[in-house]
Amino acid sequence: MPDQRVLDVSTGIGEAALAALPIIGASGMLVGADIAPAMLEGARERLNNPHFHPVAADGQALPFKNGSFDAVVCQLGLQFFPDPARGLAEFQRVLRPGASAAVCVISTPDRAPMWGLLAEALGRRIPEQRQVINLSFALADPRRLRSLFIEAGFQDVHVEQVEREDTTESFDEYWEPIESGTGSIPQIYLSLGEAERRAVREEVKTQLSRFVSNGRLVMRVEMLIGRGSARRPDNDPYVGRSDGLRDVVQNETLELAKIGDQNASFDSQLLEILRCPVTNALLEYDSVAGELISRPADLAFPIRDSIPIMLTDAARKLGG
Ligand SMILES: C[S@@+](CC[C@H](N)C(=O)[O-])C[C@H]1O[C@@H](n2cnc3c(N)ncnc32)[C@H](O)[C@@H]1O
Repeated sequence: MPDQRVLDVSTGIGEAALAALPIIGASGMLVGADIAPAMLEGARERLNNPHFHPVAADGQALPFKNGSFDAVVCQLGLQFFPDPARGLAEFQRVLRPGASAAVCVISTPDRAPMWGLLAEALGRRIPEQRQVINLSFALADPRRLRSLFIEAGFQDVHVEQVEREDTTESFDEYWEPIESGTGSIPQIYLSLGEAERRAVREEVKTQLSRFVSNGRLVMRVEMLIGRGSARRPDNDPYVGRSDGLRDVVQNETLELAKIGDQNASFDSQLLEILRCPVTNALLEYDSVAGELISRPADLAFPIRDSIPIMLTDAARKLGG
């Protein structure tokens, strides 16, 4: 297979990215996007691979040129987007025509007890946080996930419910990432006082005892895997346009290559596909300030520790 450009949205500390790395090829490119820059630091350290490019970005406003990727994956992230339809529309936009996106989300709490029981115990104690807690299960309806893909313009849409068995050596091993706050529900757990945390732990431990087999926790977990292909050329949004938009888009690549050459310190391969998340317009790289400038949006996006922070709330107003 030729070299591939893959985008892992909501990459977190790179769980899905790690799995994608072997398929991208010798000069392929794997971009990990996440709204939390701290997660990306973790991903970069974990993957430790020059083909991995972390970018801080909101999955609902991706800072990439149309048709940049050969595949988009998003594992356990889409359900947290305030507007998942917008997220999927963005996945479709940044895919090359005919290329696929695959999304993995959690099923209902009863079909995913490893998270469902903790969510239930927390929701009862902090009812005002129940909505946030339940976000983890927000896309558990396969019909809804399918409609979201179709409405985003994907073709050949499939949604399957996949069950797998998950074995953890002990309850303590299961609890360790919760105690260290890995994930949105554990973060809410950590906001409780110590006595309440202990009570939640005991409650979940009792509930999980029915899954203990030979001292190990053996649980079945259901996930939904949704996938679809981006519009093919017969539905090409540029077809029939007389405003020369396609030429503008194609020329952008040349323009950016020039900027990239002048600024060898910033990854030119990444610079070629990066765009303003607000206007989708070209960016200029300011090597002195370490910023990516979007003139039409009047914003400068910082680059921190070589990670472009393409988030509007992190950007500086140019006029100011
Ligand atoms: C449960 S983690 C999943 C991480 C990883 N994909 C995995 O499978 O382990 C969810 C991730 O989604 C990210 N996230 C939440 N909202 C997001 C958004 N609007 N855009 C991009 N990432 C987002 C979080 O920062 C977090 O890293």
